[in-house]
Amino acid sequence: MKIQAINGFKDILPEAVGRWQSIEQRARDIFERFGFQEIRMPILEKTELFVRSIGEATDVVEKEMYTFADKGITMRPEATASIMRAFIEHGLHVQQPVQRLYTIGPMFRHERPQKGRLRQFHQLDAEIIGAAEPRVDAELIAMGRMLLDELGLTVSLELNSLGCPVCRPPFKERLVAFLEQRREVLCDDCQRRTRTNPLRVLDCKKPSCRAVVQEAPSLLETLCPDCDRHFLEVRTALEELRIPFRINRFMVRGLDYYTRTTFEFLTTDLGAQAAVGAGGRYDGLIEQLGGPPLSGIGFAMGLERLVLLMEQQANNSLAAPSTDLFVAALGTALLAPCGQLVHALRQQGAKAAIDYSGRSLKAQLKQAGRSNARFTLIVGEDEWARGEAILRDMRTQEQRTFTLNGSPEEQARRLLALVGTAATSG
Ligand code: HAM
Repeated sequence: MKIQAINGFKDILPEAVGRWQSIEQRARDIFERFGFQEIRMPILEKTELFVRSIGEATDVVEKEMYTFADKGITMRPEATASIMRAFIEHGLHVQQPVQRLYTIGPMFRHERPQKGRLRQFHQLDAEIIGAAEPRVDAELIAMGRMLLDELGLTVSLELNSLGCPVCRPPFKERLVAFLEQRREVLCDDCQRRTRTNPLRVLDCKKPSCRAVVQEAPSLLETLCPDCDRHFLEVRTALEELRIPFRINRFMVRGLDYYTRTTFEFLTTDLGAQAAVGAGGRYDGLIEQLGGPPLSGIGFAMGLERLVLLMEQQANNSLAAPSTDLFVAALGTALLAPCGQLVHALRQQGAKAAIDYSGRSLKAQLKQAGRSNARFTLIVGEDEWARGEAILRDMRTQEQRTFTLNGSPEEQARRLLALVGTAATSG
């Protein structure tokens, strides 16, 4: 029986890897422009870390974590909690009070797989720790926007504020009272959530629940003065940076650590999976995990969703993989010297390829074409006996004679000089 990958776990094949790498490189480049440094954490963490940060009554913790129950450890479902754990454990703020950290890597959630939703997926995650000013929120959102823009993606931005421990609890009470009165109309999940996590009812997708929450009290209208001012200043700073957004008072996010600003980058091009990226402020989290009372804000983008969008919005043609020089050795006796030449070419930085099968010239030229070779060096037995080979420009089909004297290193140097000039003039 053939063994296949687990449902929801996907191979990223060579033909797709180029796109992944270009997104990752662009992200690293932009994050570094904004002063971020990379951090890499382990994939396994103590289960308690996620329970205490993401929250016990969230979907992620209740039903989506890959946990080794007997060992008390879990495969990370997201990166923020792990970054905060590492930040606290190593006292990173002591060296530098404001930390800007990013990470790129796999996350694990036991969700029902569908387009854009996997059980192992990858996030680009960026966090700013130790800065509470609203302009920082706008700066971080602007960074996400810049990445999406530079990838050529059309994605909208929604914004909300979830208040703080001063204004959220009284709001929750009002919301629960409102929902209790309409209990029969709510779906089973929301009837349960009214008790466990009432804010989640606000973003239920079921039409009956949606109709109910349209009339629900709004947290935005009951923010405390500090949260209200913060939200106003974030909006103003976004406007100053000319970043369009829409306010969505029903956005609650699926993780419990958020306070104040939350945001989502959304698309209608990925079916049910609307969020390409999302994040927000988590001002009490670090202290709650045993660290100093520092604020934080961050976001994560799903790499699979970015890749799908790039394919879908199709304004991104990816350069095909290419070879600088393909060496076609026509005869087994020539494999040794041609192998040495290819090795020398690679040592000198060229992307060189060779076929060891001793196949016909026609077959090898076909392979050179498939590997997108810019030039092919044809080494036939007769030419070899004369100390020569033929250099063929695969684009113009022009051919010229190349003299094979000197060591493989010298040949490689001359060949690259020749190929370099021909490539720039051709
Ligand atoms: P999140 O909204 O759970 O937030 O996930 C962020 C992004 O990860 C989503 O917008 C989506 O693109 C991607 N994603 C999530 N689950 C899946 C999945 N099953 N398959 C494919 N992609 C997925 C967080 O994870 C927070 N840690 C973000 C954050 C950072 N907040 C503050 N700092």
